[in-house]
Amino acid sequence: MSLAPFLAELDGLVADAGKAFASAADAAALEAARIEFLGAAKGRLKAVQKGLSTVSKEDKPAAGKRLNEVKAQLEADFEAAKARLASAGPATKTGPQFDPTLPGKPLRVGRLHPLSQTIDELKDIMGRLGFTVADGPEIEDEWHNFEALNIPGEHPARDPLENFYLSVAQGQVESRKSKDEGPDIRRSTFDVRPLLLRSQTSTVQIRVMERQPPPVRITSLGRVYRPDAADATHYPMFHQIEGLLVDRHVTMADLKSVLRMFATSYLGKDVHIRFRPSFFPFTEPSVEADMQWSDRWIEFGGAGMVDPNVLRAVGYDPEEVSGFAFGLGIERLCMRRHGITDIREFYKNDVRFLEQF
Ligand code: DAH
Repeated sequence: MSLAPFLAELDGLVADAGKAFASAADAAALEAARIEFLGAAKGRLKAVQKGLSTVSKEDKPAAGKRLNEVKAQLEADFEAAKARLASAGPATKTGPQFDPTLPGKPLRVGRLHPLSQTIDELKDIMGRLGFTVADGPEIEDEWHNFEALNIPGEHPARDPLENFYLSVAQGQVESRKSKDEGPDIRRSTFDVRPLLLRSQTSTVQIRVMERQPPPVRITSLGRVYRPDAADATHYPMFHQIEGLLVDRHVTMADLKSVLRMFATSYLGKDVHIRFRPSFFPFTEPSVEADMQWSDRWIEFGGAGMVDPNVLRAVGYDPEEVSGFAFGLGIERLCMRRHGITDIREFYKNDVRFLEQF
């Protein structure tokens, strides 16, 4: 073989091998290229090398020199490709890179609102005292919010300015009237009883007693509504916990024991509570309950022996059974326990406040 075709063969080898090494996309492809070109037994470089013996004697030094250059070139190309794949890392095939040294994202753990936590805890305490939880609607009629609770029509508590009356039912009736429809149809088609957002959870007392005969031992916790201007101790919506126990021979002593156990369970053994004579239409006698907070007494609810008129309104016989009832402000209790001085904090949704509970 003369020199020229031998050199041409080497040039072709350099070009092919360079392309193969540069385009190897992973370690397996690179290894296949290495075996094809640099393989010790059947590599293409080896094959060309074998042709060297057929080159004429005077061309041999030049051919041998070029062969060594080509060999070095192929090895360098292979090493470069190997380095390229190593620096790209093992995840080069697909997808984003994962860097295990990056700090993790902290999970923001949510929690229950302090009032929800309080409600859960109060339910638990009442449960241990033997009271089951009852529920009632927040939109009420006057029977359950007033009448059955011995609050008659002329009572100041029923003043429209003291309550959130809803005008829906009334509006519907009037629109029918303007179409000249007769009064009987209106009465049979529409419920014209005024509705209001309940102003107290005492409504649930009536709803439970209407449904079941005595004995009754229930608690009810939920929202109540009054058109009060918001200040540090008032809010137009707040929460009450109601308790009702009706059975034979229930006395004021039972009421005081239960309230005292309830208060010490939630506020701690060292809390002082006191009872003051008071008046509620649905209890006789009635008391207001105060708790000591620093050097002051703060009212946290009302209570008393269920008025015979209330028992009669739900079909109970006041000669047979007696009962006690109480209604307490949940925000007040929670504020006393946690030293919160402004009720509005509960409703601002400020995480700096909420995350303390
Ligand atoms: N319903 C009363 C209020 O909202 C609180 C209350 C007083 C509830 C005496 C009672 C009770 O059950 O016996 O002011």
